[in-house]
Amino acid sequence: MVTDTAHYTLNDGNSLPVVGFGTAGLRGEEGVGAMQSALEVGYRLIDSAVNYENEAAVGTALRRSGLAREDVQVTTKIPGRHHEQALAVKSVEDSLRRLELEYVDLCLIHWPNPSVGKYVEAWRALVDLRARGLVRSIGVSNFTEQHLDDAIADTGVTPAVNQIELHPYFPQQDMRQVNASHGIRTQSWSPLGKQRAPFEESAVANAAEAHGVTPGQVILRWHLELGSLPLPKSATPLRQHQNLDVFGFSLSKSEIEAITGLGRPDGRLFGGDPDAHEEM
Ligand SMILES: NC(=O)c1ccc[n+]([C@@H]2O[C@H](COP(=O)([O-])OP(=O)(O)OC[C@H]3O[C@@H](n4cnc5c(N)ncnc54)[C@H](OP(=O)(O)O)[C@@H]3O)[C@@H](O)[C@H]2O)c1
Repeated sequence: MVTDTAHYTLNDGNSLPVVGFGTAGLRGEEGVGAMQSALEVGYRLIDSAVNYENEAAVGTALRRSGLAREDVQVTTKIPGRHHEQALAVKSVEDSLRRLELEYVDLCLIHWPNPSVGKYVEAWRALVDLRARGLVRSIGVSNFTEQHLDDAIADTGVTPAVNQIELHPYFPQQDMRQVNASHGIRTQSWSPLGKQRAPFEESAVANAAEAHGVTPGQVILRWHLELGSLPLPKSATPLRQHQNLDVFGFSLSKSEIEAITGLGRPDGRLFGGDPDAHEEM
C-alpha cells in the first residue's frame, strides 16, 4: 500500500513525494493563490517550467507558505529553444533568478525536439549544472527510448526521471517499461486526461463506487499502483485536496487492468506523433 508519507528513491539517491502538483496555466496573483493553497493542502512537489511563465509565482507561493525550502521540491524545465549547451546553462540560471532560489530539486529537458537534434547538448548542460549544485536531480520529458539511449551513451549519466503523457486513455505500457529498465522514474503529465478525463468509463466509475471515492481519485490511485508519479493540476482547493487524498484505499489487480485497458490508439491528448508538437 502506497502511503501519503511514501517517497520514491531516484537512481541518484535523492527522493520525491509520490504525488506532485501540476502548474501549467497557473500564473500571476491567481496562480500564486492556487499554489499557496496546494502547499497548504499538503503538496510538497511543484512542477513548473520556463514555458509555463510562472516560475516567479512558484517562488512567491513558496515564500508566502512559510514552509522551509528543504521541505518543498521544485521542478522546472528547459524549453526546446534553449537546448544548445550554453543556452541551456543560462536557461537554468535564469529560472533560478525568477524563482529566487539557490537550486531546483529537479530540472528536466521539456521536449527532445529531435528535428533540432540538440537534446544531448541540453543533457550535457544538466550534468554540469548538477555538478555545480544548481540542480539536485536531472531528468527528461517526452523522451523516447532512442532519445534516452543517445543521452546516456553520450554522458554515461542516466536521467532520474522521464515525465511523459500518461492517463487511462494513453497508459504508455512500453515507455513505462523502457523507463523502468533504465531505473528511471516515470512521472505522468495530464494524469487525469485533462479535458478528456475518462471519469464516466465503467472501469473508473465502478471502482469509484466500490471504494467510496471520486473517479479522479481512482485515476490518481491507478498511477500510484503503476509506480508512476502523477502531477495533477487543479486551481480548486477542494479538488487539490481530493487529488492528494488517494492513500486510504488501493485498487485490485483486475481494477488496475480494467483501467489500463481503456488505452486506445487515439488516446494521446495532443495527436499521434511526438515530433509533431515540438515545443519551443
Ligand atoms: N512535460 C510536459 O510536456 C507536460 C505537458 C502537459 C502537462 N505537464 C504537467 O502536468 C501537469 C498536469 O497536466 P494538465 O494540467 O495538462 O492536466 P490534468 O492534471 O490531467 O488535468 C487538469 C484539469 O483537470 C481538472 N481537474 C483537476 N482535478 C480534478 C478533479 N479531481 N475532478 C475533475 N476535474 C479535475 C482541472 O480543473 P480545475 O483547475 O478547475 O480543478 C484542469 O482543468 C501540468 O500542470 C504540468 O505541470 C507537463
